[in-house]
Amino acid sequence: MTAAAPARQRSKILCLTVGVIVVLAVSLGVGLGVGLKHHHAASTEVKASNSSNSPSNTTSNLQALTPQDSSSFFLRGAAAMADEPAQDRVYTFVLEERLGAPDGVEKTMLVVNGLYPGPTIEVNEGDRVIVNVTNLMPNATAIHWHGLYQRGTPYFDGTNAITQCGIPPGESLVYNFTLDGWSGTTWYHAHYSTQYTDGVTGAFIVHGKNETVPSYDAEIVVQLSDLYHGFSTDLLRQYLSTQGMTGEGLTGVTQGNEPVPDAGTINGVGQWGNSTAYSNYTLEANKTYRLRLANTGSFAASRFSVDGHILTVIEADGVPITPYEVSGLVIDVAQRYSVLLKTNRTTGAYWMRGSVQEDSFTYDEPGFNGNQLAIIRYGVDDSAMPSAELAASDPGAGDGAPGDLDVSLLVPSDFVEAPNSTISYTLTISMQNTATNNWLSFVNSTSWSPLAGQATLFDSLTLNSTGANVYDDSQLIITIPQKEVVDIVINNYDDGDHPFHLHGMKVFVMGNGAGRYQGQALNSNNPLRRDTVLLPAYTWTVLRFVADNPGMWAFHCHLSWHMAAGLLMQWSVMPAEAALLTPPQQMLDQCSMLKGISD
Ligand code: C2O
Repeated sequence: MTAAAPARQRSKILCLTVGVIVVLAVSLGVGLGVGLKHHHAASTEVKASNSSNSPSNTTSNLQALTPQDSSSFFLRGAAAMADEPAQDRVYTFVLEERLGAPDGVEKTMLVVNGLYPGPTIEVNEGDRVIVNVTNLMPNATAIHWHGLYQRGTPYFDGTNAITQCGIPPGESLVYNFTLDGWSGTTWYHAHYSTQYTDGVTGAFIVHGKNETVPSYDAEIVVQLSDLYHGFSTDLLRQYLSTQGMTGEGLTGVTQGNEPVPDAGTINGVGQWGNSTAYSNYTLEANKTYRLRLANTGSFAASRFSVDGHILTVIEADGVPITPYEVSGLVIDVAQRYSVLLKTNRTTGAYWMRGSVQEDSFTYDEPGFNGNQLAIIRYGVDDSAMPSAELAASDPGAGDGAPGDLDVSLLVPSDFVEAPNSTISYTLTISMQNTATNNWLSFVNSTSWSPLAGQATLFDSLTLNSTGANVYDDSQLIITIPQKEVVDIVINNYDDGDHPFHLHGMKVFVMGNGAGRYQGQALNSNNPLRRDTVLLPAYTWTVLRFVADNPGMWAFHCHLSWHMAAGLLMQWSVMPAEAALLTPPQQMLDQCSMLKGISD
C-alpha cells in the first residue's frame, strides 16, 4: 500500500504529554538523576565506541550469502510428520558475517549457515530440539526461540544479559530443550543488542498433536521483514546520539527518531531501486495452502496479501483462531499468523505482497520502497508473470472482498476462560530525554541497559538469593515468589505503537482502550491469547499471565531500536524453584569470559 499515513511527529509528544513529561523529567532529574546520569552516559558511550560491534572493514573479503531456492520454504508438513515418534531434532548453526544483497543493494549481514533467512526448524510438539550454535561473528551472541516456554530450561531462553551472558566470539553453545505445551508458527532470532536486524533470524515451526485448525494440503513459511542498508550497530549509534538520525538533534526535536528502513523482504528477497528479483512459489491448482506468516523485522509492521485471493486466518502466535476471512492483514513486528490460501482462481501468476507500513516513520528515507513482491503461480509455466493490471490493483480489493484483519475480532477456537488475577502491577511506557540528553525508553522510571558479562537469571540464583538488589537502576525486575495470576496494567504514554512480548508464559489480552487505565471492564471470556501484543500510542492494555514457570523472563518492546534504548523489564518467577534448575557449567564459564572482555 502506498497510502502514506501521516508521519509521526516527535514534536507532538511535547505538547500532548507535556504534563507527564514534566512530572517524569522532574522525578528523573531529581530522583534518579544521579544514578542514571552516570549509568546511561557510560552505557551510551560503550554502545557508541564498541568498535568490535561494527562489521569488518574488509567487506570485500566476505563470502556471499548462499542462494536459497524458494522450495526451502515449503515445509515437510504436519501430515507428513504426524506419525513420527517423539525424537531429538539436531541442528548445527554457524553464525558469521556474510555479504548479502537481499533487495539488490550489497550490505554486510550476520546470518546462520550463510542463509538469509536462516534454516527453518520444523518439529513436532514433544520433540527435543538440540541446536549447536557456533559464533564466528565479531561479537557475542545469544539465540532466542521466540514464544517457546522453556519450562524447566529457563537458561536456554537465549536472552542476552538475562538468561545467559552471551556466546563469546569463537565459542559454541548447545541449546537443548523439549517442546512442551506449545505448537504453531514461530521464529528464532539473535537476542543480543540489535543483532537480529542484520539477519540472524529463521522460522521455527512446531506441529501440534491436536491442533484445532481446518485441514489443508501443504504449508509454506513466509517471513516478512523490513530491511536496512546500513549495519544495525551504526544505525543504533546514530539513533542514540544527540544528533539523532536526521542530524538536527541539537534542538531536541528529531532526537529519538527511529531509523527508517530502506525496503523489505519476503523470505529474504526484496526490491529496491531497479531490482526486479522476486522469490517464486509454484503451487498446484485447486489446493489449500497454509501460509505461516511471521514479521521477523525490526521496526515496521508489514501488510500481507495475495492479489485476487481471500485469505483465511486460522492461527495467531500459536493459538488456533476461529476461521476469519480477510483481504489482507497487518502483522506487527514479531507476530505470526497462519492463513489459508486456496488456489481456486483462474490459473496464472499472482503477486504476493509484503507492504512495509510507514505509520511509524518520522522522516523520509531517500529511495524507500515499501512495496515488496513475490510471485505465486499455479497452472501456468514458471515464466508467467502477474498481469500489470492486477499489479496495479488494490491488493485483495474488489467485489466481495472481506476487508483487512481487525485484531479485536480474532476469537481463539479453543474456548478458555481466563483465570482470576491474584496480583496486579501497573507499568508505564514512555520515551524521555534524560538529564544527560540521551533520548531513552522507559518502563516506569527504568531504562534497561544490559549488563555485560552478566545474566540476571544466574545472578538471582547465586548473588541475589536473599532478595537483595544487586543491580543498578537499569534493571526493573519484579519478583513473583510463588505461583500467581498476574495482571499487567500498561499505560503507553508514548506517541509510538509498541509490540510487547512476554517470554516464558502465555498472555491473555484482557482489554485495551484509549487513554490510561482507570478500572475499565476486562474480558475474561475466551480472550485472545498471544505472545506479542501491540500497545498503540496513548492507550492502556491489560495483559494477564499465569506466573508458574520458574525463571527470569523478559517483557519488552520487540522493536530493535526501542529494546536497545531500554524498553525492557524482567519478571523473576518463583526464584527458589528456578534456583533448582542448573544451567550447564559452560554457560557460567562464558559469563566469566565475557566479563573479562567487557569490564
Ligand atoms: Cu522475539 Cu525477547 O524476543
